Parts: sequence; structure tokens; C-alpha cells
Amino acid sequence: MRHQVCIIGGGPAGLLLSLLLHRAGIDAVVLERKPRDYVLARIRAGVLEQGLCDLLRQAGIGARLDAEGHVHEGTVIAAHGHSLRIDFRALTGKTVTVYGQTEVTRDLYAELDRIGAPVIHEAENVTLHGADTDAPHVTFAHGGRGQRVDCDHIVGCDGFHGVSRRTIPASVRREHEHVYPFGWLGILSETAPVHPELVYAGHARGFALCSMRNPHLSRHYLQVPLTDRPEDWSDAAFWDELRRRLPADLAETLQTGPSIEKSVAPLRSFISEPMRWGRLFLAGDAAHIVPPTGAKGLNLAASDVAYLSRALIAHHQGDDSLLDSYSATALARVWKASRFSWSMTRLLHAFPDEGTFLARMQAAEIDWLAGSRAAQTALAENYVGLPL
Ligand code: FAD
Ligand code: DHB
Repeated sequence: MRHQVCIIGGGPAGLLLSLLLHRAGIDAVVLERKPRDYVLARIRAGVLEQGLCDLLRQAGIGARLDAEGHVHEGTVIAAHGHSLRIDFRALTGKTVTVYGQTEVTRDLYAELDRIGAPVIHEAENVTLHGADTDAPHVTFAHGGRGQRVDCDHIVGCDGFHGVSRRTIPASVRREHEHVYPFGWLGILSETAPVHPELVYAGHARGFALCSMRNPHLSRHYLQVPLTDRPEDWSDAAFWDELRRRLPADLAETLQTGPSIEKSVAPLRSFISEPMRWGRLFLAGDAAHIVPPTGAKGLNLAASDVAYLSRALIAHHQGDDSLLDSYSATALARVWKASRFSWSMTRLLHAFPDEGTFLARMQAAEIDWLAGSRAAQTALAENYVGLPL
């Protein structure tokens, strides 16, 4: 088969790119390794920047987001004796929207189905060929039969463990990694959120985050040792530990209930440069991973897609300048969001091996944040998303 663009990976990056390209009359196919139900069952991000919301509207799938998403004008940071509200709207004029990644993915699938854009699930052994030539192609197995896609460009949206990045020769790739000595244990529960806005809590026992999907569905996270598995934590143990890490007023009103999902994710910062090799382009987690503390992973995937869709559309109008600058443009934003995610992670987690000095630095920074509009503005500007 022949398509103008072959997209590897049907997560949010790959699906959104396909939709934006189809809207511009460019024919793209998505190859996804997993069944659709599996992709839709993965509970991941929940906070969308305004830039991502605008992109979803531009792609024609803003209706459910606008009806069911919850606009948040601020967040609470509770640490080192302060309980501090960061007022996004007052400080930056912008807001974020709470709307689950699963819902974004569901909306994307529905629209791609409606317009007949192909998404091939359970594509096995996806292999990229000739990405550094003028005639790239991709092979894969589907239903036991070998298949081949000839295309003009390949886009790797296949996440951190995908094949696309590793197709770029090691001599070309520059990888930068920082691994944190803990993970996040997350649970989803059909309980009311403890507070109308997200609460990021820094505590000597470890970080905690109270998030939500809607007024009846809460998402909570605890910093845990990397060796902990979800089955090591009963629901009761989770709620007890969460209560210990929250300010007393919130701990008292915390509504608990059975978890309907429980998982542990390791924390990592990772960036692979460049994001282009010949006719192969990388977008989203395929090229970079951030620790979840600043809620940037999904939003960065979306900004890559915004840049790349513009560049591919310009290419089809005879202008290659945006394709040529894609890697540099995307990486400039990726590094800044990575810096923010890293600094939020350093500010709010317990690093038991680093002694008392870091804890005092964290306390000093929180104290400064509490008293400085400039410091709050810097945090808010990054949290709501740097300009595209
Ligand atoms: P992905 O969503 O990873 O999609 C990649 C797709 O490629 C997958 O569907 C995968 O099945 C497919 N694929 C992989 N290999 C192949 C192959 N060889 N062939 C074909 N297809 C392949 N971000 C936040 O902002 N907040 C959070 O709370 C948060 N929680 C997270 C929890 C977990 C466990 C993880 C892993 C990530 C989390 N993230 C979070 C990050 C956020 O979800 C990602 O940044 C976002 O999903 C990136 O989208 P993507 O499309 O680039 O990659
Ligand atoms: C969620 C996850 C995050 O990493 C974050 O910073 C905020 C919210 C969430 O899953 O709701």
C-alpha cells in the first residue's frame, strides 16, 4: 500500500497528527501495535494546556472537551508549612483544562473513524526501511500476513519503547537521561476530589498529588520506592499514607473508596536529539520523557505534533523550511518543559539520600515562592504552557 505519511504508534501524538494531516488533505496511515481497547484503558495524563485544547478544537474535536472538560484557574502547592495557591489566570491570563488522556484518545479515534482515516491495530514487527533515502518504506505483520507501506515521510510516535528512535543510527543520536530514585503509585477512585483544584503536596515522607478527572472521579499519586509494586499497596494503606502527606484540613475531609485502577510509573527525564533523520521524524514520548510532576508529557507530545503538522503541510505546498527546522524548533520547547518538570520534581519530592541540605533548599524555595509574585508568575507561566 502507499500513503503520503506513515505514522508509527496510535497514542495521542500519532492519532492527532493523522487527523491534522487528513484535515489538510494529506493521506496518512497509523500503525499501532496494541488493540484499541488496550490503548483506551491506559490511564495517563489529565491536565491539558490551552495550546493543546486549541489544537484539538482546530482539529475539529473540541466539542466534548468544551462540554466535559473542567477549566482550572489555579493549583495548590502545599509544602514546608505553606499552603499556597498559584493563580494561573491572574498571573498569566491563561488556564489549564482537566480532561483525561483516555478521553482525548477516544475523541481522536471517533473522528478518524468518521472520516475514514486508516488506523491499523495489532501491527506486529513494525520495521522502518530507507528512512535516510528518498524512498522510505515500512514493513509489518498483520493477521499473520506481511504488509508494506511505501511513503514520503515516516513519523515515529511510538513512545519511549518504540522502534522508530532506535532506527536512527547510534552515531547520529545524542541521548540525555536523568533517572529519579523513586516512582509514582497512582490510583483512580470514584470519589469526590478533596479540593476543587489540584493539590501538589511536598512532605518529608514523600510527594503526593491529588488530581481528578471530574467531580466524581479522583486521581491520586504517591511517591514510592522504585521497588514497590501496585499489589504491595492495599487501598487502605494508600489512603492512610495520602492522609499523612496532606495538610491537616484536607486530610480530614479526604473522601476514600475502592480503587478502580492502580499502577506504578518510574520517573525519568530523557531527551534524544535530533528529532529528525532523513525522512524520519520523531514526536512525543518517542523522542523525550519528562517526570510527570509538571503535567507536561502529553502537552509536549502535542506541541511536537503542532510543529510537525505545520511543517508537513508546508512541504506539500512546496516549502521545506519548516521541516528543516522542525527538530531545532521542537527541541527548544522540549528542553524548557524538561527543565520545568525536573525543577518541580526536585522541589516537591523527598530525596532521602541527599541529606538535609536539599530539604532546606526546598523549604527556602517554597518560602520564596509564597512571598514573591515574580516567582509564582514564573511557575504559572511554565505550568500553563510556554508559547508554541
Ligand atoms: P504513547 O502514549 O506512549 O503512545 C505510543 C503508542 O505507540 C502506544 O499506543 C504504543 O502501543 C505504540 N507503539 C509502541 N511501540 C510500537 C511499535 N513498535 N509499533 C507500533 N506501535 C507501537 N503525562 C502527564 O502529563 N501526566 C501524567 O499523569 C502521566 N502519566 C503517565 C503514566 C504512565 C504509566 C506513562 C507511561 C506516561 C504518563 N504520562 C503522563 C505521559 C503521557 O501519557 C505521555 O507523554 C503521552 O502518552 C505521550 O503520547 P505519545 O503518543 O507520544 O506516546
Ligand atoms: C495528573 C498527573 C500529573 O502528573 C500532574 O502533574 C497533574 C495531574 C493526572 O493524572 O491527573
